[in-house]
Amino acid sequence: MSQATASERDIRNQIALGALAFADNCKQCHQLDGYGEEKLYPSLHNPALLADKSLMIKTILHGRAIGQDESGSETGRLMPRLSFLTNQEIAAIIAFITNSWGDEVLIVTDKQIEDAR
Ligand code: HEC
Repeated sequence: MSQATASERDIRNQIALGALAFADNCKQCHQLDGYGEEKLYPSLHNPALLADKSLMIKTILHGRAIGQDESGSETGRLMPRLSFLTNQEIAAIIAFITNSWGDEVLIVTDKQIEDAR
């Protein structure tokens, strides 16, 4: 089997694992379809957002404090930190959401997540 085929299969497996981890850890707020709930939970159908690897990792690991987003404007909304997730689960979730709603699948490495913890 060629290298390319093997890695495509790895990516498909990662996306499948990510779908399960998303349902367990993100769905209650962002909804299974990723559209969230207006005013409460933001939609993840946002290719620009989903292209930002380090923002994805940081948001999942550290959550978002009430009253601030990345641009410094007030939101009054809270996302809890989900740092209890394993590196593998976080990488899988990012593969799943970027495959579903982004322009391309983002593959993050164990080290990229570990460094952000
Ligand atoms: C308890 C509810 C809740 C859970 C669970 C949750 N989120 Fe969030 N999430 C939020 C809220 C609220 C915001 C917006 C915070 C803000 O406005 O600053 C947010 C913001 C985000 C953003 C940034 C959106 C933007 O426009 O900047 C991303 C990406 C995200 N969440 C992904 C996830 C993923 C992936 C998971 C699961 C691993 C998850 N969230 C779990 C409530 C949640």
